[in-house]
Amino acid sequence: MGMRVIRAKDYKDMSRKAANIISAQILMKPDCVLGLATGSTPIGTYDQLVEWYNKGDLDFQYVRSFNLDEYVGLSRTSDQSYYFFMHEHLFDRVNIEEENTHVLSGMERNGEKECREYDEKILSMGGIDLQLLGLGHDGHIGFNEPGAAFEKGTHCVTLKEATVKANSRFFGSPEAVPKQAYTMGIKSIMQARKIVIVVSGADKADIAEQAFMGPVVPEVPASILQLHNDVVVIGDEAALAKCSF
Ligand code: GLP
Repeated sequence: MGMRVIRAKDYKDMSRKAANIISAQILMKPDCVLGLATGSTPIGTYDQLVEWYNKGDLDFQYVRSFNLDEYVGLSRTSDQSYYFFMHEHLFDRVNIEEENTHVLSGMERNGEKECREYDEKILSMGGIDLQLLGLGHDGHIGFNEPGAAFEKGTHCVTLKEATVKANSRFFGSPEAVPKQAYTMGIKSIMQARKIVIVVSGADKADIAEQAFMGPVVPEVPASILQLHNDVVVIGDEAALAKCSF
């Protein structure tokens, strides 16, 4: 199957189309393992899923989830932690069981152990059925920055200055942004049976072109997705403006 591209009219349409695929996954396999992402792009997707849940069309009772990444040093109660984000945008709004949701612990100082156990847990649940991704402006997926090795599982990374700067919009100042994070690696992401990547806005047009039309290179981590056998790119007009699929 390889890479499929879905052009959406706008952000809302992109969100609905992404939610549609996630919803189909849950309907087909009620105890599926979802890989979840943070960032501003998937928020509309989560809102759409919540809407369908509220209508009675979706049931998260048996769904299991693993998040892509977490900042090192942020506790779960910090409103900038990805744990907090997931609860705010999805977990607290649907009937997913807390013990079925997994987010790396940023407070665990033994990163190696935290990351190894995370990979083991994913494996023990049969692997990820569907991985949702956003796209960083430098081509990162999860927190796999340009130059990241393709063969890594979950590990600790030092964020690039550009990413710290981009994410400082949520923190107030760049100094407040943690400089390290735990993230699933490219290998973990590529092992997911299905991948859905959502991309929105004109500011992503250049990197989307590089990631989806350019050569597969570590400098553009998302370009590896071209080699996955079941990936769906869902972008709005603005984000896909430079892609001539
Ligand atoms: C962060 C996250 C990524 C996300 C990226 C893009 O760095 N770790 O998972 O894809 O931001 O975020 P946005 O969707 O807000 O552009």
